[in-house]
Amino acid sequence: MAIVYQAETKTFFLDGAGVTYAFCINEAGYAEHLYWGTAIPHDDLRYTCARWQLWQITPPGQDETATYQSYAPELAFFGTGDYREPAVLPVNEAGDRLCELLYASHEILPAKPAMAGMPSMEGGETLVLHLLDSITGFAADLYYTVYDDCGVIARRVVYRNTGNTPVILRRAYSFSMEVPGQDYEVLTLYGNWAAERRIQRTPVHHGVVAVDSKLGMSSNVLNPFLAVVETGADELSGEAFGFSLVYSSSFVLKAQGTSFGNALVTGGIQDFDFSWTLDAGEELETPEIVMAYSDEGIGGMSRAFHRAFREHLINKRYVKASRPIVINNWEATYFDFDLPKLKAFVDTAQGTGIDTFVLDDGWFGKRDDDTSGLGDWVVNGQKLEGGLTPLIDYVHSKGMKFGLWFEPEMVNEDSDLFRAHPDYAIGVPGRQRCYGRHQYVLDLTRQEVRDCIVESVNAILHTHAIDYVKWDFNRPVAEFYSLGREAGRQAEFAHRFALGLYDLCRRIVEGNPDIIFEGCSGGGARFDPAMLAYFSQIWTSDDSDAEERTRIQYGTSLVYPLSAMSCHVSVCPNHQTGRTTPFATRGHIASLGATGYELDPTRLSVEELEQVRQQTAAYRETEALVLEGDLYRLDDPFTGNYFSFLTVSPDKTQAKLTAYRRLVEPLQEVKRIRLAGLAPDKTYTIPALGIRATGATLMRVGLIPVFGEGDFQSVQYMITAE
Ligand code: DGJ
Repeated sequence: MAIVYQAETKTFFLDGAGVTYAFCINEAGYAEHLYWGTAIPHDDLRYTCARWQLWQITPPGQDETATYQSYAPELAFFGTGDYREPAVLPVNEAGDRLCELLYASHEILPAKPAMAGMPSMEGGETLVLHLLDSITGFAADLYYTVYDDCGVIARRVVYRNTGNTPVILRRAYSFSMEVPGQDYEVLTLYGNWAAERRIQRTPVHHGVVAVDSKLGMSSNVLNPFLAVVETGADELSGEAFGFSLVYSSSFVLKAQGTSFGNALVTGGIQDFDFSWTLDAGEELETPEIVMAYSDEGIGGMSRAFHRAFREHLINKRYVKASRPIVINNWEATYFDFDLPKLKAFVDTAQGTGIDTFVLDDGWFGKRDDDTSGLGDWVVNGQKLEGGLTPLIDYVHSKGMKFGLWFEPEMVNEDSDLFRAHPDYAIGVPGRQRCYGRHQYVLDLTRQEVRDCIVESVNAILHTHAIDYVKWDFNRPVAEFYSLGREAGRQAEFAHRFALGLYDLCRRIVEGNPDIIFEGCSGGGARFDPAMLAYFSQIWTSDDSDAEERTRIQYGTSLVYPLSAMSCHVSVCPNHQTGRTTPFATRGHIASLGATGYELDPTRLSVEELEQVRQQTAAYRETEALVLEGDLYRLDDPFTGNYFSFLTVSPDKTQAKLTAYRRLVEPLQEVKRIRLAGLAPDKTYTIPALGIRATGATLMRVGLIPVFGEGDFQSVQYMITAE
């Protein structure tokens, strides 16, 4: 049994793959955290409960040694003497913000209940802990699920108003979690357009380190992820506690060094611009937080997330299936194409191993640049005479699949949709709307707006033989205001926008199960676990330069599996950076994900086309390593001249090393790469280097990659057990 309640100590033990999570109901009825880490026996852990008496507030009915502030919380609350970051702030009818959420009861369910309005992990045995403020009837149900195949725990809270009067939630986070000690660093992912998910490390200090989004999307500015890692933890060693929020709208995650020397982590829905009214009997579900523990460093934490998302979050039909190898026309044509041009792409791609043609932006409405047409999902007859069908038939006749781009959540002012329904675009009456890429965001909080989107997108999907969709989202929300809500409920907007998005995804993505959907957001600005629940792969970045991609894909892999990252070979000089890198290097770096090409194939030389053939063949041969392999990051391009990724099959019989050297340096070191994750006693061969050695040797002694001449060189080596 994964979840055990020990009645004599009132302790809950949750055992997952290699991990134990424990908390008790203490003498005050408070859910007090005891342990989260490497699996341990079910000993009485209450000796770890510290009790502080200095300068503390004592809740009524408790003796002087009992102070909420000194308990490690499962859910911290405010107004009764705990001054750490609370997880919840309910405002009662009288205006008081007090609540004392204490144990009421618990249930252990055989299967994890799905969330009604939001995506979440699937799962088995689940503990539901019912906490209640007995004075007001305000309640919190804490859900915990553990997994026997990965070291993660999925948590969330459902806040319920069981009282007779309304409660306004001004904060409704998904969890509290305290890690003992403070010798930690906070690791987070920041960035911007074309520079997504760079890594930053900041010491835990007295006070709060926070990452957030106020953009109405998870965003490329800060990812909804935060890890607390032992100071100095590296890829292979040190403890790492990772938190990944399954959410796509404005969020916040915080790590607080408390005055008692611990690190409290909390967060969820962004509460800077939030309030949510719960009438009597109503409840609010909060987004799920996936918590990954590892004592094998940051790499171990990443592998736990990867496994969890692959096994329990991403669409089962596609997650481990052979992915399309696409040719996408965006960088090749931008808005300037017609049927003959696109047919020529298909003709050239045919037989190269590329098996899917994706028609990007510009096929609909009056769309010759980005100032018009969004919202009008009807074919642009000037570019595509006779509609989409002749092109789709042509692609299919060549044995390839057909993909199409949409940006369902947006509208241009110059569009039939906007002319008919200007009120569908988010905006505040009496104020001009803010532009972003000449477009407005549609008000997904309104049912009629969602219905209109679903109808027009599905009209195309239901009448054409479309195999693949790329779903884009190119600007954040600015005004956070809906004509569909009264004044007192406007601060519900950001969360309602997320709920609206998930409703769209359910009806369009899940409603068209034979189509594989790729997510996108001006590159990778909405790369989060909630989107991954619908989009089995996400365009990682508009920056397709192989050199830049080493960092972008490295940072993204901290949380997300390789198979979630869409990565393409593009033309050089690169459109984003002007840099020229070898075609082979571009192929190697793009092969570390769901691969494809983003260029005009008719302009490739005979040699380059031959390279495409070899790249796609090599990709198909070892694609299982991208889809299911364990990732070991061996060289960090943020801190050094090299980037290396090793993917290892779960049974450790196959591995593939991709290594990249940025610059040739006159004083070049002899680069050695120590492998990891192999079976020490298996003998492996690396034909390209003529090596035959045990896993132990390859992991301790390493190998020496042989790079070609010049900058931006890369190699790929197959490593096979005998
Ligand atoms: C942004 C995406 O990231 C690009 O790949 C492309 O689809 C453009 N939008 C099209 O407008």
